[in-house]
Amino acid sequence: MTVEQAPAETPKATARDWFQRAVVYQIYPRSFADSNGDGIGDLRGIISKLDYLQRLGVDVVWLSPIYTSPQDDNGYDISDYRNVDPLFGTLEELRELTDGLHARGMKLVMDLVVNHTSDEHPWFVESRSSKENPKRDWYWWRPPREVDARASQRRAAAAAEPNNWGSAFSGPAWEFDQATGEYYLHIFSKKQPDLNWENPEVRAAVYEMMNWWLDRGVDGFRMDVINFISKDISLPDGPVADGKLFGDGSPFYIDGPRMHEFLQEMHREVFASRTGGLLTVGEMPGVTVEDAVLYTDPARAEVDMVFQFEHVALDQEEGDKWRPKKLLLTELKQTLGRWQEGLAETGWNSLYWGNHDQARAVSRFGDDGKYREHSAKMLAGILHLHRGTPYVYQGEGLGMTNMTFGAISDYRDIEVLNHHREATTHLGHTDAEVLAALAPLNRDNARTPVQWDASRHAGFTTGAPWIAVNPNANHINAAAQMDDPDSVYSFYRKVIALRHAEPVVSHGDFTMLLPDDPHVYAFTRALAGSGSAGSPGSPADGTQILVLGNFSGEERDAQLGDQTWHDAELVLGNYPSDAGAAARDGGSAASAVRSSAAGAMRLRPWELLVLRRRSGA
Ligand code: GLC
Ligand code: CA
Repeated sequence: MTVEQAPAETPKATARDWFQRAVVYQIYPRSFADSNGDGIGDLRGIISKLDYLQRLGVDVVWLSPIYTSPQDDNGYDISDYRNVDPLFGTLEELRELTDGLHARGMKLVMDLVVNHTSDEHPWFVESRSSKENPKRDWYWWRPPREVDARASQRRAAAAAEPNNWGSAFSGPAWEFDQATGEYYLHIFSKKQPDLNWENPEVRAAVYEMMNWWLDRGVDGFRMDVINFISKDISLPDGPVADGKLFGDGSPFYIDGPRMHEFLQEMHREVFASRTGGLLTVGEMPGVTVEDAVLYTDPARAEVDMVFQFEHVALDQEEGDKWRPKKLLLTELKQTLGRWQEGLAETGWNSLYWGNHDQARAVSRFGDDGKYREHSAKMLAGILHLHRGTPYVYQGEGLGMTNMTFGAISDYRDIEVLNHHREATTHLGHTDAEVLAALAPLNRDNARTPVQWDASRHAGFTTGAPWIAVNPNANHINAAAQMDDPDSVYSFYRKVIALRHAEPVVSHGDFTMLLPDDPHVYAFTRALAGSGSAGSPGSPADGTQILVLGNFSGEERDAQLGDQTWHDAELVLGNYPSDAGAAARDGGSAASAVRSSAAGAMRLRPWELLVLRRRSGA
């Protein structure tokens, strides 16, 4: 809801407070917990873990799709928006899950996948049945175009597709349909035809479905590739990059001409009449900071926040995940710093290292070997203490790592399988080359089952898991961590609790420090003090925190040029609190800060330090 729609008794300034203080936990149901031994996670499995989630301290659960689906893209291809796939359970079990979350003070956010449906959705079945069908125009149908002999030489098959766009999952973005002799558009797999949002009936049907879910007690939506729904209706050819078989259509379907209009209409039709406590987050590949300000400006009433993709493209050549490169910390800071700055006054950030589409955070941004635990905790501290709403992906809070898969047959993700086929058959790459290139960033890294304990299949299932369990489950698992105060899990509890306790974490402003330091991530957060008016917990309480993270396996000095922080209070760190070490290094025993001879703060490998001072006190 927006400030404007706040009920009269709510102070206007606090209508968004709840999600600014909240931490969201993402569940990918297929890989979370299996209750019936079929090897696939399900709702009953999630229900059995509600106490685990509550103990972690999260406020919201975002549930990846559990709707009826042929599972071509693990549920992101929906054939019935108003039912639960039998693979996952029943509507009654979903009700039980919703009630169980609510009873524990948590909210439920559903995945809303409305850029496309499954090709088995009744809407598409009707649409493809004839050119005269009333739902024909609900999707993007186009006749074949004249085949240009020269252009088609680039491709093994003759290219009569309406334009040259490639699908995000390899191959062309068009599928020919024999029955009516036309092609339909699918930006993702050919079993995910794109809905035509130009058609007002499509929009009305989607809003009706969203209202149906809100009426059933869900608390909001994570909107799948929502900035793809408005397309340039002339569907022009896109540029073809070197080494590519197809054109890049994204300039014509990302943040298209009617995006803001559609989201404002959705807000009016679905959210405006609701009284608060809802969360909307738009997944927006390719979104710019400038556009994100518009999408998340509460006065414009579109969405609460967006998922941007810039920081998860820095370790790739030209944003191509199959051409990984080394991440530079300076670029990471520059990117996240720009998003902090861009949304400082208007709008709101979402914060994430990982999700079901990204590699595991500790393997990607940290060190999943010797310093796995230290770096997993350091990454949590850095992310959660930015200004914005943090998202924790399942397993991240245990420090779960990327998976080492062997042959292509070990993979399950349609994106990987299609890419491997295209690269080996049409682009002349060897199997070994493709497997090496896709190892670091493929999506199956994040889709191995959650590691609950050290038993067979990590306590995820009693049957055969749909995708292999990471063999490191024997020592990385929830059972080993839950009662260990120094575990990654316990650290996540602390950093989540800190957000809930300290208004400077949720509401303070953000200042990046040391932008050119190649190893140290450093920033401050501050709530403007207002002298005696500032008491801890009030919106302006004069609290400041300094956050330092060492992104390397060596000792590093942070040259802040500000000695005053050396005496500040340590609120969080990822090394055992060790007053002796401070004394040894010449610091005062009370101070946690280790100083170098030159007066810099010294950080141990992958160390995180969070220091606090209160000027108003
Ligand atoms: C989003 C989802 C991803 C899915 C795609 C198509 O990016 O997060 O998992 O494959 O959209 O729905
Ligand atoms: Ca199951």
